[in-house]
Amino acid sequence: MAIKETNFDVGILRRGKVRDVYDLGEHLLLVTTDRISAFDVILPTPIPDKGKILTMMSRFWFDFFSEDIKHHLVTSYSSTIVWMYPELKKYEDILKNRSMLVRKYKVLPIECIVRGYITGSGWKSYKRTGMISGIKLPSGLKESQRLEPPLFTPTTKAEQGHDQEITFEDVVLMIGRELAEKIRDISIKLYSKARDYALSRGIIIADTKFEFGLDEDENIYLVDEVLTPDSSRFWYVEDYEEGRSQKSFDKQFVRDYLNSLDWDKAPPGPEVPADVVENTRGRYIQIYNHLTGEDLF
Ligand SMILES: Nc1ncnc2c1ncn2[C@@H]1O[C@H](COP(=O)(O)OP(=O)(O)O)[C@@H](O)[C@H]1O
Ligand SMILES: [Mg+2]
Repeated sequence: MAIKETNFDVGILRRGKVRDVYDLGEHLLLVTTDRISAFDVILPTPIPDKGKILTMMSRFWFDFFSEDIKHHLVTSYSSTIVWMYPELKKYEDILKNRSMLVRKYKVLPIECIVRGYITGSGWKSYKRTGMISGIKLPSGLKESQRLEPPLFTPTTKAEQGHDQEITFEDVVLMIGRELAEKIRDISIKLYSKARDYALSRGIIIADTKFEFGLDEDENIYLVDEVLTPDSSRFWYVEDYEEGRSQKSFDKQFVRDYLNSLDWDKAPPGPEVPADVVENTRGRYIQIYNHLTGEDLF
């Protein structure tokens, strides 16, 4: 059964585009639904199991980075979650495989984007100014070309509307130089490690977004979701070619379908037919299986 939306009578609910977040005081409960967005619009049709696959991917990466950085995940086992919060017992079936109980930290107001390939808004900015986030790049780069070393191209974390591109010096003004350098260096280190690993498994991680939080002693933790298709661009090595834009590995079928309609990309989004749903679900499963080496279904 696809989960489009949850309405648990616990804590304080904040609904994001894809996740329902319950503030339980010391902890947050992040429930990843099967909602999917395309062109920034949440579609009415869910992709069954998408939330489970994304949650298991985040869990995979927290584990992958366990030697590199502390993180917020307490548990993603529904059994443990309902043991700690018995009031959630009646939702155990919904929670299963799609929830993370995490420690609540003070999240830095910065989206730590790292780009290992030049595409999307980064490519647009480069074509216009020769720079991304104030970083001057060599001339003559081709679209989708690999960047060495990967670039730290932060944005603000807007409560509403679009995140704004900012420079590293803007980050310094916001949180101080020491912390800014730390999160920049960690972001590049984590991305680079994941990029090399994914490449060895046939997947290009073109770019991604990390978020970091602080505890009372200013220790840094990796928070939010990590290296999922919702926070990253994944391409298939076999389809990759420099000099053009790449199709989104996970949302390709949805985008192609929506582009075939006479829809102005303003909400509400249209329903998506069953074959597009099934193909898209297959893509999420494929990414998971490729990356982790474990068969999901
Ligand atoms: N460990 C944590 N402590 C506090 N806040 C967190 C933690 N992990 C994630 N968050 C925050 O929870 C929110 C999740 O919302 P999200 O599903 O991303 O919605 P949106 O679509 O608005 O981005 C984000 O603002 C994120 O920064
Ligand atoms: Mg978010």
